[in-house]
Amino acid sequence: MPHVRRDLASLGRHLQRSVLRTSLPPDVLRRCVASAGTADAVLVQAAADAAASAGAVADALNQSLDALHAESIRLWALETNCDALRTRWLLSAGLAEMPGAYWALLTHPLADRALRHLAFGDVEMLRHAKESETTLPMLLGRRSVAPRRLGAPAPTAQQLDLMVQAALSAPDHGRLGPWRIIEFKTASRDALSALFEAEKRRRDPLASAADLKKARGHATQPPCLLGFVVSPRQRKRVPEREQLLAAGAALGNLLNAAHALGFGAIMLSGDRCFDPAIAAAIGLDEGESLAGFISIGSVLETPPDVTRPLSQEMWSCWTPAAQHAQQTTQDSA
Ligand SMILES: Cc1cc2nc3c(=O)[nH]c(=O)nc-3n(C[C@H](O)[C@H](O)[C@H](O)COP(=O)(O)O)c2cc1C
Repeated sequence: MPHVRRDLASLGRHLQRSVLRTSLPPDVLRRCVASAGTADAVLVQAAADAAASAGAVADALNQSLDALHAESIRLWALETNCDALRTRWLLSAGLAEMPGAYWALLTHPLADRALRHLAFGDVEMLRHAKESETTLPMLLGRRSVAPRRLGAPAPTAQQLDLMVQAALSAPDHGRLGPWRIIEFKTASRDALSALFEAEKRRRDPLASAADLKKARGHATQPPCLLGFVVSPRQRKRVPEREQLLAAGAALGNLLNAAHALGFGAIMLSGDRCFDPAIAAAIGLDEGESLAGFISIGSVLETPPDVTRPLSQEMWSCWTPAAQHAQQTTQDSA
C-alpha cells in the first residue's frame, strides 16, 4: 500500500468517540483507561478525552483496536482503491463484523474523508435506531415506587453520580442550575428521624406513638434518601417560573435515570417540606425551598398497574381565529 494506516490520534474527535463506542467493548476500554468501576457512559467519555490528547492511554486504545480487529484490518488492506472500500463497507454495515470493519475503514490509508463520514453516519444512525428501541419503552415504563416496596441494595455512589449527571442534562434556561441535592447517608438518618418526629409533634401535639414511629420511618426506611432543593437564582434575568420548570425537568431526569439503572424511586413532599425548623437544620439558604425527598432503592415488590391519561387529553391544535370563523361559517351553511 502506498501510505501508512491512520491511527486513533489522527481521527477527528467525533470519529474517535464513535469508534471507541462502536469497536471496543467496555471491558477493554476500562482496562485501557484504568478505571475499574467506571460506568459505560462515563467510560467512553474518559477514553475519548484520552484519545484526543496523545499519550500512553491513547496508545493503549490504538493497540487494543488493532489487536481486536487484526483480521478485519488484514482483509481491508487487500483493497486498493476507495471505491472498493466503499463497496466493502456497504456489505458490512449493520452486520456483526461492523465494529472491525469500521476501525479498518477509518484507519485505511485509501479511505477518503467522504467515505469516513459515510461510515460514521451509518454507524451513528444504527446506534440511534438501536437506542430508541430500548430508551423509549424504558421511559414509558417509568413509575414511582413507594418506599415500603424498596430495599437493599441502594445505588452505589457511582450510580448516584450518573443520576445527578442525568439531572444536569435536563433543559435549563441560562444554565443556572436552580436546584441541588442533599444526600442523607446512613450515619445521618437517626438525626433526620428525630427532626421528622419533632416536626410531627409540632404539627400534631396529639400524635400517637404509631404516628411518631411512622414519621421517623420516613427518614430511616429508604435505602437511599435525597433531599431535592429548589434554588432559584434571584438576580438572574430568567423568570422564576422557568427556573422552577428547569428544576422539575432535572428532577424528572434524575427519576428516569434511577429507573434506567434498574432502581425504583419516588419523590414525596408533605408538610415537613414546608417546616422552617427542618429547612434550617438541613442547611437551606434563604430563597431556597425543599421540594421533597427522593427515595431510591431496589424494587422488592412491583407496584400495582397504573393507567396513564391518553396523550390526546394533553394535546390540542391551535386554529387561527380567521380560519376558525371560516370553518364555523362553512359548517352552518
Ligand atoms: C414535587 C413532587 C412532590 C410530590 N409529593 C408527593 C407526596 O407528598 N405524596 C404523594 O403521594 N405523592 C407525591 N408526589 C407524586 C409521586 O411522586 C408520584 O409521581 C405519583 O404518585 C404518581 O406516580 P407515578 O410517578 O408512577 O406516575 C410528588 C411528586 C412531585 C413531582
